[in-house]
Amino acid sequence: MDDKELIISEADIRQRVKELGAAISRDYAGKQLVMVGILNGAFIFIADLAREISLPVEIDFVRVASYGAQTFSSGSIAFTKDIELDITGKDVLLVEDIVDTGRTLLRLKEIFGGRNPRSLKICTLINKTERREAEVHIDYHGFDIDHGFLVGYGLDYAEQHRHYPAIYHLRNPKPQA
Ligand code: IMP
Ligand code: MG
Repeated sequence: MDDKELIISEADIRQRVKELGAAISRDYAGKQLVMVGILNGAFIFIADLAREISLPVEIDFVRVASYGAQTFSSGSIAFTKDIELDITGKDVLLVEDIVDTGRTLLRLKEIFGGRNPRSLKICTLINKTERREAEVHIDYHGFDIDHGFLVGYGLDYAEQHRHYPAIYHLRNPKPQA
């Protein structure tokens, strides 16, 4: 039996992604926008968000080591894939699925900030505030969710559930060996 509860419907996600795309298109007019998706979780969000951007945009991806089957952050991150684009002088927007402790994005901001972009901002679909540890400024977010473990629309638990078109609260995620 599926132990999950619908939190954000497909229609609500679509509407909010449209709004984010419109805001980003307005804010980045005349700039050199580079969207950097954080794999694997952001793959669906960035695909939908990019199609709501009405400006020239370059798109690349970074992958950081995942949490594996666990539901907490180790506090440090490791790149398993870097971007290929040169972001010097460009306006970089990091696109994430969910910000939880904030540690991943804080570290990514430090790393990307050292590459001399003209600007560096963060867009996350979900801003989960309950376990925030790192002071990281979120420039755009789709939804504020205070707690719970979420799956679907790119978000996984142990690499499962990413393909759902909506977002669900997984009631009892058990750490796996
Ligand atoms: P943090 O902000 O450094 O703690 O880590 C954020 C990352 O943890 C996200 O990119 C997700 O991969 C993962 N994560 C955090 N909370 C959830 C959740 O509720 N569902 C699925 N993945 C999550
Ligand atoms: Mg992720």
